[in-house]
Amino acid sequence: MRSITTSRKPIFADPWHFLRGWCRAPLAVGWPLASSWWSAERIAEATLQAARGSGPVVELGAGTGPVTEALLRLGCALDRLVVVERDAEMCRFLEARFPGLRVLQGDALRLKETLARGRVTSTSVTLCGLPMRVVPPDASTRCYGDAFALMPQDGAVIQYTYGLRSPLAPAALAALDLRATFIGREWRNVPPMGVWRYQRRVV
Ligand SMILES: C[S@@+](CC[C@H](N)C(=O)[O-])C[C@H]1O[C@@H](n2cnc3c(N)ncnc32)[C@H](O)[C@@H]1O
Repeated sequence: MRSITTSRKPIFADPWHFLRGWCRAPLAVGWPLASSWWSAERIAEATLQAARGSGPVVELGAGTGPVTEALLRLGCALDRLVVVERDAEMCRFLEARFPGLRVLQGDALRLKETLARGRVTSTSVTLCGLPMRVVPPDASTRCYGDAFALMPQDGAVIQYTYGLRSPLAPAALAALDLRATFIGREWRNVPPMGVWRYQRRVV
């Protein structure tokens, strides 16, 4: 079991790599700035609190890794963490930044197939950094459906968003019979960031 800690507390880690990623795919990346240190801390805390069982912690859309780093800093073992990222350059960056981390380059919206390639067949919690507000409802339903199928019955998806409302399309929420809980807003982020937890209505 290995863990990574840092004494640095940068407000925005590695801004140039992230900005380059945004220039390559502005819609998929969502915003030219990565999550702030404080947001990452808050999201990671909510994720580890929601983890059930000892299975992998899965992060979707890790970018340059601010939340990945917070998960590790807060005690998630490196060998328990699996990140999915579609951008090849960001994947290489993550591998260099966190040696030994399982980085799956692929489409998180086709989660079942992407995780199967990494031989991940069950998970304890899913952290979603994809800009869900711009994802079509059928794709978000499939992504969240896959995530819930791999987790224990009381598992959760933690999702962050710059929007004011729940970022998961109401159609997806209804189709999967999920309830959305607003965890809080981190104001020390540009723009302020909301954190949500999704769980099955019936557990
Ligand atoms: C809002 S950024 C979050 C980045 C990072 N987690 C952070 O907090 O700064 C969204 C990330 O999701 C990735 N992404 C978007 N769509 C994706 C998809 N379908 N599959 C995998 N990654 C995706 C983008 O490349 C980007 O790195």
